Amino acid sequence: MPPVSLELDTKQLAEEYEKVSVERQFRAGKRLIAELALSRGENVLDVGAGTGLLAEYAASLVGPTGCVVGIDPLPLRIDIANRRSQLGLSFKVANANDLSEFKENWFDAAYMNAVFHWLPDKRVPLQQIFRVLKSGGRLAIMSGAKGNSNPLHAVRERVMKRPPYDQYQRASGAVAYHVTPEELRDHLTEAGFTIARLELRQREHPEASPDEMIQFSEASSFGNFLGHLPVELREAARADIKIELASALPLQTVRQGIIAVAIKP
Ligand SMILES: C[S@@+](CC[C@H](N)C(=O)[O-])C[C@H]1O[C@@H](n2cnc3c(N)ncnc32)[C@H](O)[C@@H]1O
Repeated sequence: MPPVSLELDTKQLAEEYEKVSVERQFRAGKRLIAELALSRGENVLDVGAGTGLLAEYAASLVGPTGCVVGIDPLPLRIDIANRRSQLGLSFKVANANDLSEFKENWFDAAYMNAVFHWLPDKRVPLQQIFRVLKSGGRLAIMSGAKGNSNPLHAVRERVMKRPPYDQYQRASGAVAYHVTPEELRDHLTEAGFTIARLELRQREHPEASPDEMIQFSEASSFGNFLGHLPVELREAARADIKIELASALPLQTVRQGIIAVAIKP
């Protein structure tokens, strides 16, 4: 399968993400940020900031004497995030694989909220974050864990195996690059971090309507959910997925997420 693409985002998907993430990623992100116990005046890096909702919240915690920088490789998401820019809060188009524009030992804290599972390579981003954190700096990660059972992903896989969709090579889509807690521990340790906390959280999640599920997946996968298909086939694919989902109602997802807090010694 080709890697997840950063070329499939659209203005509409970015605007939708801004709305649909409020009840999910933003809520979970606030809990993640609590793990960092941010103080006034601290410098914070949000890696994969998306549309900047959580970075704005982090900025309210560090205050105007602190600084939050949000980076994301998707320019359309950063366009939305930039509407939030203010004293002590800024955004840049950048990739976790290259944080060379930031000084070594500069940030007190960094976080990746719902981002780590989108990274095909875990090693380089963690090395990059390690470099820009101060000694004693904290990194918090909330990542999807291997073993998530999402009925939507199973249905998508089945539908994409059928003609006419099967002739288009799809990326790993919303399934992404999940890790186990052990794998995350190994990645963090290998990058030089000590682990302060690592926990697998599992909860059953009643799903919304098929329409909402598809909309959420398209927006939060920045177009990877169906973006490999020609535009004219996508509506038919959505309809086929909806038919299968409707026959499996009520839908229940078992969400497994990993929360990790690591410290640069
Ligand atoms: C589900 S969104 C989470 C956004 C935000 N952290 C939040 O909590 O709402 C995943 C984000 O990961 C970003 N992402 C994907 N690959 C990345 C990379 N290589 N470096 C940095 N961010 C990346 C995407 O652009 C997207 O904005």
